[in-house]
Amino acid sequence: MAKGLKSIKDIRQYWDSEAELGPDRSVIDQNDKKGSKIKYITRLRDRAVLNELSDIAASSRILDLGCGSGNLSKTLDNQGFCVSGVDISLKILKYTQHQKFTQPSLFAQYDGKCLPFSANSFDACVISGVLCYLNDADLLLQLLKDVSRVLKPGGRLVAVEQTRRTRKYQQNKMKLQRPATEILQTLAEAGLVNKSHQIIRRGHFLLIYPIRYGLIPPPFFPYIGKIEVFFGRCFSRPLFDYADTVFVAEKPSD
Ligand SMILES: C[S@@+](CC[C@H](N)C(=O)[O-])C[C@H]1O[C@@H](n2cnc3c(N)ncnc32)[C@H](O)[C@@H]1O
Repeated sequence: MAKGLKSIKDIRQYWDSEAELGPDRSVIDQNDKKGSKIKYITRLRDRAVLNELSDIAASSRILDLGCGSGNLSKTLDNQGFCVSGVDISLKILKYTQHQKFTQPSLFAQYDGKCLPFSANSFDACVISGVLCYLNDADLLLQLLKDVSRVLKPGGRLVAVEQTRRTRKYQQNKMKLQRPATEILQTLAEAGLVNKSHQIIRRGHFLLIYPIRYGLIPPPFFPYIGKIEVFFGRCFSRPLFDYADTVFVAEKPSD
């Protein structure tokens, strides 16, 4: 493997070690001890994902790829979807046992290379904060091709990933924030048709600091979230910092 590129084994080791931080900090923000920022970010992400799935019938089958502790899976379950979650880290995946799912659901560890499902199984697939941990372009393409395989024709992919104007490695090269154009190109190479992409949050949005320190109470989060999404629409490219971007793509119908 070329220097600096992380293998699935490296990525699994990294996430296994993060697991000790607990179900939320390990997968959303390692430094957020109060949990306010995590609450704000996950709310914004969940609303954006549900918005993109709003025309998909309840009880449809959704794959949560890189589901972590299952916090997004739980949101989808609350909406009536039947969720299958897969992750490469068993230590993080174990936290899903503490979530109470009301719909039929399934969680499994997998090898990060071949999804353990037959072709055309899912109505939709969600991916949140996973693609930026694949800094090897071949592994990224392989994963997205496999997503395309398991989606039904016309099935939808909704991915929430950090993007930047130019590529930037973070966390000792564990994370790679890519320009949106690079992700769009890889989605297309994987056989998916890009439908939209939109910024929902910026890394250094000023109000995130008082949120993080608990100075803004949660009842204000919906209003602040609306401001962020509005700015995301006005300025469609990241500025100097990273931006959480929602990508929507579909598998072509037969
Ligand atoms: C930042 S966390 C996000 C977890 C969850 N999607 C969420 O939004 O809360 C990234 C997760 O992706 C998993 N992961 C990383 N690379 C993966 C891969 N190639 N296949 C499946 N899961 C992967 C990690 O183990 C970790 O649980």
